[in-house]
Amino acid sequence: MPGLWGHAAAVTKRGLAALIITIVAGAVLVEPYLSLNPEQSRIEVSGSLPYTVLVVHIFTAAVALVLGPLQFLAGVRARRRLHRAAGRTYLLGGVLPAAVTAVPVALWSGRLLTQVSLSTAAMLWVVTAVLAYRSARSRDFAGHRAWMMRNYALTLLALTARALVPIFLLVQVASGGAGLSGTASSGAEPAALARDLIPVGQTAAWIINLIVAEILIRRFHRGAGSGRPRDRATSARSARSSGSGPADVRRGER
Ligand code: HEM
Repeated sequence: MPGLWGHAAAVTKRGLAALIITIVAGAVLVEPYLSLNPEQSRIEVSGSLPYTVLVVHIFTAAVALVLGPLQFLAGVRARRRLHRAAGRTYLLGGVLPAAVTAVPVALWSGRLLTQVSLSTAAMLWVVTAVLAYRSARSRDFAGHRAWMMRNYALTLLALTARALVPIFLLVQVASGGAGLSGTASSGAEPAALARDLIPVGQTAAWIINLIVAEILIRRFHRGAGSGRPRDRATSARSARSSGSGPADVRRGER
């Protein structure tokens, strides 16, 4: 069935591309912190405790960033032990410590929008992780997939925020006046403008990511419920390889 194999190959290619992008982006984000020298920090830190907490946040968040795309690869999902081990490492070695450390890091930023917005994102990161874990334990694989997509959308805020800030900066400079940061920008230095726009980019990033995740989840559910031959074949193949029965196929694919 060339159609089915073509679809599987396209999904695998997309998954591998996502993995490579996150490894490269993660390396760029983590690099200044590998020396463990506070002077290399991209954000201001006052003292060794805030720096240590920031470094723990960055290293553990990088674990989540890189392990996430692996979990969406059909080949990894079909190997249940590998999927479970990577999933536990993603949650316990990545999301949970990164979220717990994100809250003080947000509070120390001294910027109200960063404090409120990223503490909220950190809490949602934990809540979606717990719900993803619970749905997997109760073998609700459709629910598990949806919660993991929401959770990984939050993980990706680190990349989206860093892409949005330069875009917002361009918009603000092009409009030449008070803009997205709510401050009068005409005549201001680009560096000062970028600093003002960081909290806006951080906030827009996780909201946009969650909206995109909802659209993808709905599209996936529509596809799974349409009963098209390709969807039935994919569900059946997934169920066979994961050892789950027809009831699991009805409840959704992992
Ligand atoms: C829900 C997910 C996340 C939350 C809530 C969060 C929260 C935060 C907060 C509050 C800061 C301080 C920002 C500031 O002072 O302006 C920060 C910095 C940072 N975070 Fe995260 N973060 C998340 C995900 C990630 C991920 C997945 C990575 C990937 C490695 C990451 C890497 C970093 C880095 C490198 C910094 C230091 C700033 C820089 O060097 O650009 N974060 N994070």
